[in-house]
Amino acid sequence: MNDPARQPVVRIEKLTRSFEQGGVTIEVLRGVDLVIRPGEIVGLLGPSGSGKSTMLQALGLLEGGFGGRIEIAGIDASRLGKNERAAVRRDHIGFVYQFHHLLPDFSAIENVVLPQLITGKPRAECEERAKELLSALGLAQRLEHRPSKLSGGEQQRVAVARALANRPRLVLADEPTGNLDEATADKVFAQFLQLVRGEGSAALVATHNERLATAMDRVVRLHDGVLA
Ligand SMILES: Nc1ncnc2c1ncn2[C@@H]1O[C@H](COP(=O)(O)OP(=O)(O)OP(=O)(O)O)[C@@H](O)[C@H]1O
Ligand SMILES: [Mg+2]
Repeated sequence: MNDPARQPVVRIEKLTRSFEQGGVTIEVLRGVDLVIRPGEIVGLLGPSGSGKSTMLQALGLLEGGFGGRIEIAGIDASRLGKNERAAVRRDHIGFVYQFHHLLPDFSAIENVVLPQLITGKPRAECEERAKELLSALGLAQRLEHRPSKLSGGEQQRVAVARALANRPRLVLADEPTGNLDEATADKVFAQFLQLVRGEGSAALVATHNERLATAMDRVVRLHDGVLA
């Protein structure tokens, strides 16, 4: 079975990460193993400070300093240089953070178009895709709004559309609704899951919300630097 579509989207082996602070070394990740299959939505739970964000950062290939092995879509990322890592990120990974990180001077639709333009796709196609995603999230009437003219829930939904714009095989979400009130969080989270499922992307979603965790395919828990 060498079909790339059936290969794990994520394979982490013995992932370690420690931080030096004031002469003290804190071992945050002490040998994390995890496999995520295509289309699988996995909740990442663990108390505050257990290393959830650290783990997502490692998977996002944003910085070095990690030990062990990370494979994304069958590519051994541990061996790649900075530019190659950026290419894997662009082609295979979408991010949603707790705070939307949208570009304030661009409209909702432009925020979803921009990451697509980087791939070299014609603008008309990028706009079509952006409209499709924003409409699916109930934002068809908000395309030209700047982030500051959107509610918190709407901003997060634009961030979800942006993350999915390039059809990533893997979505990494760090408390994607952690900044919203409970009712809005539930609604946005349900839309997020529905869209990710519809797109067939896999996802790793960090949250300390046990209620949201029940909606995912599977939950893993970070404790003492390893996954239980
Ligand atoms: N750049 C850094 N330098 C030093 N220590 C760090 C750094 N980043 C994270 N840490 C430490 O690593 C540990 C894990 O942090 P992390 O942000 O991954 O936790 P988390 O599980 O995401 O927590 P939360 O649920 O509060 O978001 C914390 O003890 C934190 O102080
Ligand atoms: Mg965190």
